[in-house]
Amino acid sequence: MNKLLEVKKLSIKYNSEGNILNNINFDIGHKEIVGIVGESGSGKTTLVRTMINLLSPGAKVVSGEIMFQGKNIIEYNKEQWRNFRGNEVAMIFQNPSSYLNPILKIGKQFVESIRNHRDISKVEAIKKAKDTLEKMHLVDVDRVMNSYPFQLSGGMKQRVAIAMAIAMEPKLILADEPTSALDVITQTQIANELMDLRDKFHTSIILVTHNIGCAAYMADRIMVMKNGKVVEYDSKSKVIMNPEMEYTRELLAAIPELKGF
Ligand SMILES: Nc1ncnc2c1ncn2[C@@H]1O[C@H](COP(=O)(O)OP(=O)(O)OP(=O)(O)O)[C@@H](O)[C@H]1O
Ligand SMILES: [Mg+2]
Repeated sequence: MNKLLEVKKLSIKYNSEGNILNNINFDIGHKEIVGIVGESGSGKTTLVRTMINLLSPGAKVVSGEIMFQGKNIIEYNKEQWRNFRGNEVAMIFQNPSSYLNPILKIGKQFVESIRNHRDISKVEAIKKAKDTLEKMHLVDVDRVMNSYPFQLSGGMKQRVAIAMAIAMEPKLILADEPTSALDVITQTQIANELMDLRDKFHTSIILVTHNIGCAAYMADRIMVMKNGKVVEYDSKSKVIMNPEMEYTRELLAAIPELKGF
């Protein structure tokens, strides 16, 4: 498969501690969904935040490269990151409320975010915002545009946050536990929306989840992380049916609905 992004020998540390990510190597193809699983503290969030330059101030890239379409994005300057973020890669967070501005109506913040990336008129931006909300199957988009975040349900807020992330049609979406804060039915709906995005727009998706069952549902390949290392990375069927590592077997055994595999 044609690679969209390749992480090579990446090591990261925070402050003066030892490496939190240790020599990470992996790639993601065009139109591919990769699920990253692993216990709490294994470094999943650190890894995806590195790819969009959203690490906290104490974090440091010790070594390694992240190649995206032939360029090492780790060497990008502020301006290059600004262009890259939103246009090429976008992130969806676990809690959409932390991403949405609570004191601005959805329409206003969506239009501002679009116009930060594209030199288009307000009228055009409003149209783009509404079209994208419709793509996320939000009904009554005029009401949504005219609402403050607190006036929407958790599932609606996450749909809005995803709409804002995909408005610029990024080639890669990083999703860090995008459905963990939602009820089971909404979780499945959002998972299906993300898979739809891949089919319609050929978006690649890196999905971080505690739940290997969710990765099994959505992903083409599954990466298992432990203590800041990739311990297994293979096709979904291989990882689930015939895992290499005892640790992966333990993760699988912890998911009741997968016990039959
Ligand atoms: N800002 C920070 N400063 C110092 N250490 C940090 C910081 N953020 C994360 N860490 C440490 O890095 C390690 C990996 O954390 P990370 O958040 O990447 O794990 P995770 O796999 O996403 O866990 P979870 O499943 O709980 O979200 C942990 O040991 C954590 O304590
Ligand atoms: Mg995390």
